[in-house]
Amino acid sequence: MSKRILSGIQPSGQLHLGNYCGAIRQFLDLQAEGHELFVFVASYHALTTQRDPLALRAACRQIVVDYLAFGLDPARTHIYVQHDVPEVTELAWLLSCVCPTSLMDKAVSYKDKLAKGFSANVGLYTYPILQAADILAPRAQVVPVGKDQVQHIEITRDIAGRFNHEFNAEVFVLPDHRLAPHAEVLPGIDGEKMSKSYGNTIDPFQEEKALRKRIMSIKTDSKGVQEAKDPETCAVFRIVRALAGPGDARTVELAARYRDPSLQPGGLGFGYGHAKQALFELILDVFREPRARRAALMADPGHIEAVLKAGAAVARAEAARTVAAARAATGL
Ligand code: ADP
Ligand code: TRP
Repeated sequence: MSKRILSGIQPSGQLHLGNYCGAIRQFLDLQAEGHELFVFVASYHALTTQRDPLALRAACRQIVVDYLAFGLDPARTHIYVQHDVPEVTELAWLLSCVCPTSLMDKAVSYKDKLAKGFSANVGLYTYPILQAADILAPRAQVVPVGKDQVQHIEITRDIAGRFNHEFNAEVFVLPDHRLAPHAEVLPGIDGEKMSKSYGNTIDPFQEEKALRKRIMSIKTDSKGVQEAKDPETCAVFRIVRALAGPGDARTVELAARYRDPSLQPGGLGFGYGHAKQALFELILDVFREPRARRAALMADPGHIEAVLKAGAAVARAEAARTVAAARAATGL
C-alpha cells in the first residue's frame, strides 16, 4: 500500500556520501516503490547555526538541484524549501505547548552541537519540535533518515501522542522512522562520522581530479602492500561497502584483497592506494548519471523555481489542513 513519506536535509553545506547512503538513497528507493514523498530543504533548521545569508541561500538552491540530479522526480515527489511553508512554524508553537522541557533536555543532537562549539540558542534547543511540525504537518507515516535522526522521530511520536491525548482529539498521525538497509554511520576522510560540519566529507559531484585527490587523502594506517589488512576498521573499505552493498562482487573482492594482498593481479601486493583507486572508480560509476544531469539542472534556474513553487503549494495545503484541525482541537 502506498504510504506518505517525508524527510528533509539542512542546507548547511554541500551534500555528501553520508547523506546519500543514509537518506537520499532511501528517498529514491521509496519513490521507485510508488510512495508519495515530501522531500524538503530544512532552511529554518539551518538558521539555528548558519550566519552567512549568501551561503545559506546558495546551499538551499544547491540541495534542490542535487535532489533532482540524484533522481528525485518532481512529477512524483513534492520538493520544497521549509520557509515556503510558514504553517510549520505555527504548528511548532502549538506542539511546543504540550512538549515537556525534559524531552528537549534528553535530545543528544543539542548536546552534540554545543560540544562542537555552536551557540546555545533557543532555536537549537527546540529544534526537534520544529522537526516534529515538519513531519506532522502533511501527516507523514514514514520518515527515512540516518541513525543519528532516530531520536528525533521518537520525540515526534511522543509530542504527537501527548497533543492527541491532552486535547482528546485524533489530530496527528504517529510516524515511524525508516533506516537504510545495512544502515551504518558513514566515516569521513578522517575516520570520524562524515558530516557537513566536520569538513571531512566526500562530495559525489566533485570534479574528477579534485575528487581523486580527496579520496587519496582518506586516513588509513601505515601497513605496507605485502601486509594483511583489516577491512572492517578501514574508512575506504567501509565507504565502498556502503555504496556498492555488502553482497556486491566489488565489496567481496576488495575485502579478500585486504586480507590477502597476494590476490591483487600483478603479484606486487595490495596497498591502500589500490583500495582508494577502487573507491574512486566506484563513485564515478555509481554517480555517472547524476553527475551528467547536474550540469543541465544548474543551467536552468527557471525549472528549479517552478519545481519549488509546485512543491510548496501542495505542502502548504496539507499543512493548512493539519493546523486548522490542531487549532480547533485546542479551542482557538
Ligand atoms: P550533516 O551531519 O552532514 O549536517 P544532516 O544532519 O543534514 O547531515 O543529515 C541529513 C541526513 O543524512 C540525515 O537523515 C542523516 O541521518 C543522514 N546522514 C548524515 N550524515 C551521515 C553519515 N555520516 N552516515 C549516514 N547517514 C548520514
Ligand atoms: N534534523 C534533520 C537533520 O539534521 C533535518 C530535518 C529537519 C528533518 N526536519 C526534518 C529530517 C523532518 C526528517 C524529517 O538531518
